[in-house]
Amino acid sequence: MAYYTTAGGQQVIVLKEDTERQRGRDARKSNMMAAQIIAEVLKTTLGPKGMDKMLIDSLGDITITSDGATVLDEIDVQHPAAKMMIEVAKTQDKEVGDGTTTSVLLAGALLGKASELIDDNIHPSIIITGYQAAAEKALEALEAAAIDVDMEDHETLMKLSNTSIRGKAVSNARDHLSGVVIDAIKQIIEHRNGDVIADVDNVQIVKKEGESLRATELVKGIIVDKEVVHAGMPKKIKGAKIALIDTPLEVKKTEFDAEIRITSPDSIKAFLDQESEMLKKKVDQVVATGANVVFCQKGIDDMAQHYLAKAGVLGSRRVKKSDMEKLAKATGGKVINNLADLNATDLGLCGSVEEKKVGNDKMIFVEECKDPKAVAIFIRAGLERMLDEAERALNDALHVIADVAEVPQMVSGGGSIEMEMAKAVSEHAASVGGREQLAIEAFAKALEIIPRTLSENAGLDILDTMVAMKAAHAKKGGAAMGVNVFGEGVIDMLKEGVVEPKVVKEQAIKSGIEVASMILRIDDVVAARSGGMGGPGGPPGGMPDDMDM
Ligand SMILES: Nc1ncnc2c1ncn2[C@@H]1O[C@H](COP(=O)(O)OP(=O)(O)OP(=O)(O)O)[C@@H](O)[C@H]1O
Ligand SMILES: [Mg+2]
Repeated sequence: MAYYTTAGGQQVIVLKEDTERQRGRDARKSNMMAAQIIAEVLKTTLGPKGMDKMLIDSLGDITITSDGATVLDEIDVQHPAAKMMIEVAKTQDKEVGDGTTTSVLLAGALLGKASELIDDNIHPSIIITGYQAAAEKALEALEAAAIDVDMEDHETLMKLSNTSIRGKAVSNARDHLSGVVIDAIKQIIEHRNGDVIADVDNVQIVKKEGESLRATELVKGIIVDKEVVHAGMPKKIKGAKIALIDTPLEVKKTEFDAEIRITSPDSIKAFLDQESEMLKKKVDQVVATGANVVFCQKGIDDMAQHYLAKAGVLGSRRVKKSDMEKLAKATGGKVINNLADLNATDLGLCGSVEEKKVGNDKMIFVEECKDPKAVAIFIRAGLERMLDEAERALNDALHVIADVAEVPQMVSGGGSIEMEMAKAVSEHAASVGGREQLAIEAFAKALEIIPRTLSENAGLDILDTMVAMKAAHAKKGGAAMGVNVFGEGVIDMLKEGVVEPKVVKEQAIKSGIEVASMILRIDDVVAARSGGMGGPGGPPGGMPDDMDM
C-alpha cells in the first residue's frame, strides 16, 4: 500500500506497511468535515436561549452545561482536525475567557464556505489569502465600532458581566453575582509599568453546598479549606500576623532506615527530649517573629502543634501551594522555606483569621485584608450541580470584567457587531477583483453564522431575522441592531444592555481564521493505523492501491 513506484516500474517502500495516507481533496474534505462537526455540536448552545448539553464521562459523572469550553473539554474526540478545533476553543478560553462557542462556530462556518469554494475549483491558497484580507477588514470595523469603557461606570460593567452570565440555573441571581464579580476584579487590579493587569487566577473560587446563590459573597482575603490543626489552638485571631511556611515543622526523618539501640529508659527520654527540643526551637523561631497564625504547606508534627498551641498561635497544615501563593498576595506576606530566614517583615497581615463551620465542614477564613491583591468568592447554592454551573458562569464573568479592565473597550452583542463586520468586509470585497473576491465575500457570509444561530436557537425565523438585520444595518444608526431573542425581529443591543468586551470578538476572529487556514493548508494526512484518523470523517476509504505520484 505505501509504495512509491519509480518510472522504471520499481517499487520502493516508503511508509510502514500499516500506515494510512490520505491526500489532496480527500484529506482536506475529511478534515474540514470533522472540524465542522465540532461546530455543529456547539451550535445549539449559543446565546441566552441556547440549550444545555448533558455530558457523561467514562465514570458516569454527569455535567449539564451550555459552556462551550466545558463541553469541548468533556467530549472525547479522535479526529486530529476536530482536535484542532478544540484547541481554538482552549486558546479563546485562555486568552479572554469567553466567546469559545463564537470562535468555534466562526471557524466551522469559514470551513463550510471554503468547502463550497473548493467545489467551485478555487484553490485553498487563494481562499486563505482572501480570508486573511477579509479578517483584516473585519478587525478594522471592530476597532471602529468599539466603545470606551470607564471602570468607574458600574452600570456598564454590570451590563458586560450580565451579558456573559447566561444559563437558566443562575439567571435569577445574575445581578448579585455580577456585583460580586466586579468588586472582585476591581480589588485585584495591579498596575505594572503603565499596564493594567487583571489576573483572574488571583480570584479564588470556593464552593460549598448550602444556602442559596444570593448568599454568594466576596471575601477580602482567602479561604483555606482546612481545619485548625490542634484542639488547643485559638479558633479566631484578630489583628493576625501570618507566617507562611513552605517547610515541615517536623523533625527530619533519616533518609535510610537507621536503627537506634536504646539500652535504658534514660536514653529513651534523652532521645525524645532531643527531638522535642528541636521542634521547640523551630516553633520558637516562628513565634519570635511575632506571628500569631501559621499556614504551613507541609506537615506540622504533634509536638510542634502542642508548642504552637501553648504560644497561642492558630495553625493549619498541608495548605495547597496555590492557596499559599494567594495567601501571600492577599496578606502581603512572603512564603518562606527556611525558618532561619523568617523575619517579622515576611509576615502577612489581616484583620481576622477564623475557623468557621460551614455546613458540616470547617474552613479557615483569612479576611479583612488591607487592599488584598488576591480575593475569594465563596459560592453558595443548594445543589452541587448549581454550584458547578455558578462557578462556570462566574468564571466567564470574571474574565469579561478582567478583559475590559485591561483593554477598556466594548462592542454591542446579539450578532450586531458580526453584522457590522460582515458589512465592512463585503464592501471591501467589491473593490477586489477575481477569485479572491469570492473568498472575501465568503468570509462576510461566514460572520453571519452568529446572528443566524442566535435567532435559530431562539426559535425565530432565520430568514426573516436576517432580512431585518440587513435592512437595519444598511440604515444610518443601525450598527447596534441585533437579534431580539426574547421577542422577535431586531432591537438595539446598546439600549438592551447586551455588550461584550472588544477583545473577546477580536480573539474569536483571530482564532477562527487561524484554525480554518491551518486546516485548509493540510493536503496530506499520514497516520499510523492505530493512530487517530478515526472518528468523524473516518479513516480514508477508497484510496488508490498504488500510490503513484
Ligand atoms: N440578551 C441577549 N440578546 C441577544 N443576544 C445575546 C444576549 N445575551 C447574550 N447574547 C449573545 O450571545 C452570544 C454569546 O453566547 P454564549 O455565551 O452562549 O457563547 P460564547 O460567549 O461565544 O461562548 P462561551 O460563553 O460558551 O464561552 C453573544 O453573541 C452575545 O452577544
Ligand atoms: Mg459567553
